[in-house]
Amino acid sequence: MRRRDFVFGALGAGLASSGALDPFVWSDPTAKAAPVRGVIPYGTAVRTDLLDTEFDYKAAIVDHCQLVVGEGGLKWFDLRPSEDQFVFDQPDRLIDFADRNGMQMRGHTLAWYGAMPDWTQTIASPAQAERELVHHITTVVGRYQGRIPSWDVVNEAIAEHPESGATIRNSIWQERLGKRYIELALRTAADVDPSAQLVINDYNIENPTQQCRDRRQALLDLLRDLKDRDVPLHAVGIQGHLPGDMEIDKEGLSKFVEAVKGMQLEVLVTELDVIDNKLPAREYDRDQIVAARAGDFLKAISDVARPSAILTWGITDRYTWVPTWFKRDDGKPNRPLPLDAGCRPKALMKVIDEFTGAAE
Ligand code: G3I
Repeated sequence: MRRRDFVFGALGAGLASSGALDPFVWSDPTAKAAPVRGVIPYGTAVRTDLLDTEFDYKAAIVDHCQLVVGEGGLKWFDLRPSEDQFVFDQPDRLIDFADRNGMQMRGHTLAWYGAMPDWTQTIASPAQAERELVHHITTVVGRYQGRIPSWDVVNEAIAEHPESGATIRNSIWQERLGKRYIELALRTAADVDPSAQLVINDYNIENPTQQCRDRRQALLDLLRDLKDRDVPLHAVGIQGHLPGDMEIDKEGLSKFVEAVKGMQLEVLVTELDVIDNKLPAREYDRDQIVAARAGDFLKAISDVARPSAILTWGITDRYTWVPTWFKRDDGKPNRPLPLDAGCRPKALMKVIDEFTGAAE
């Protein structure tokens, strides 16, 4: 069995907890046994720089998670201050933390329009773009080969408002190489680490709006095209940044997941949180709506497929990207995550336990 099947398959099947298999084959022999909570691994995005200074933050991650992913660190902006530099400090620290605590680390992300350093604007020709992208993926995936079992290879490739003929989002890669950058990224990652789960990760597909319907269709068309041409791809990451004031399109989302499954692709939830800027001020009420929204979302997925992992984009309300874009008008702090700012579990944590099987 390949490593990614261990983590996202055997662990899911409960074999790890039965002791029948030891899925964690670490280079570090002192690594702890994996904290197995549910049958589906749960994880969080981590701000690596806080692990050394915020004890309760670190303890919360160790207590609750089997997976971590850097909120930054592996993005071009963080890794590549200049064309000839790779700065691996943050991801090296995070994978070391994961190893020491029996967790696994996901990789986020290799080809994205966002978080690009200014120098990449000087990438001029298609040939240069191809060289840069291949060099980047070869170096980064190569460094962690066999240690990062799942990669968001391509992030947010679908256009914000897909229209016919323009369904792929603009990026340096799309502008220089066209849509073939997606295939190039996936094939390069597969060549470097054939055991890794390769993921296309995207958001804004779960609400009953025309935009979400169009985005689901554009994503399915992209997946179909890649599968038809035998491009190595194993899973779709559904980010799940859920607008708290909007219903989940349960039927539309289930149908989407069914179609993904029909292409022999896995699904995983990669960045779940609930954007609560338009929800009631009272904390108890807000937390109930946040939990219910996430519950509807996870149910629509789980009704038709077992996600290979569920991750939230942060674990405590103390550290979340949400107020950067979605501050509340009443000035109250956002509460989008499973633990409150004091790292105490909220209703959303119960929902996650339920859908990962940790509550049973
Ligand atoms: O580290 C620098 C710091 O040195 C500088 O002083 C400061 C001033 O702006 O910026 C710091 O960098 C920030 C970085 O987060 C680290 O905190 C960037 O400005 C900020 O833009 C960056 O935001 C991140 C964003 O992606 C862009 O990379 C968010 O934390 C992160 O949560 C967000 O994550 C994305 C996923 O990758 C993809 N899906 C959506 C999700 C939420 O937007």
